[in-house]
Amino acid sequence: MEKPTQIQWRLGERLFKDRNLSRTGEVSCADCHQSENFFADGRKRSIGVEGREGLRSAPSLLNTVYHESFFWDGGSRNLEGQALAPFDSWIEFDLDFEIARERLM
Ligand code: HEC
Repeated sequence: MEKPTQIQWRLGERLFKDRNLSRTGEVSCADCHQSENFFADGRKRSIGVEGREGLRSAPSLLNTVYHESFFWDGGSRNLEGQALAPFDSWIEFDLDFEIARERLM
C-alpha cells in the first residue's frame, strides 16, 4: 500500500473522528479505536450507538496495514472493507452508507 499524502492523511483522520457517520451522531471510529489506547478500546465488549454492546473488544489498529487477515477470528481478509463494516453493523454505526455519504456533502 502506498504512503498516504498529507491531504489523504488529514481527510482520513477527520473521517475517523466524525461522529456524524453514526446514525445517532454519537459514535466515531475513534470512540472504539482510541489513539490513547493504541487504537483499541480497552473494554471487554465495544459500545456502539444507543449504548449497544458488541460481542467483542475493539482490537488495536496499529500496523493493521501489514496484516493478512482481520477480526479476532481472522474472518476478514480485506482492509478497505473494514472501513465500511461499521455502517452495516446494528451495534456500531447503524447507518446506511449512502445516507452517511449525503451527510458529508
Ligand atoms: C462500536 C465500536 C466500533 C466502531 C465504531 C468501529 N469499530 Fe472497528 N472494530 C470493532 C471491533 C469490536 C472489531 C473486531 C471485530 C471482530 O473481531 O469481530 C473491529 C475491527 C476493526 C478492524 C480490524 C482490525 C484487526 O486487526 O482485525 C479495523 C481495520 C477497524 N475495525 C476499523 C474501523 C474503522 C475505520 C471504523 C470507522 C469507520 C471502525 N473500525 C469503527 C469496533 C468498532
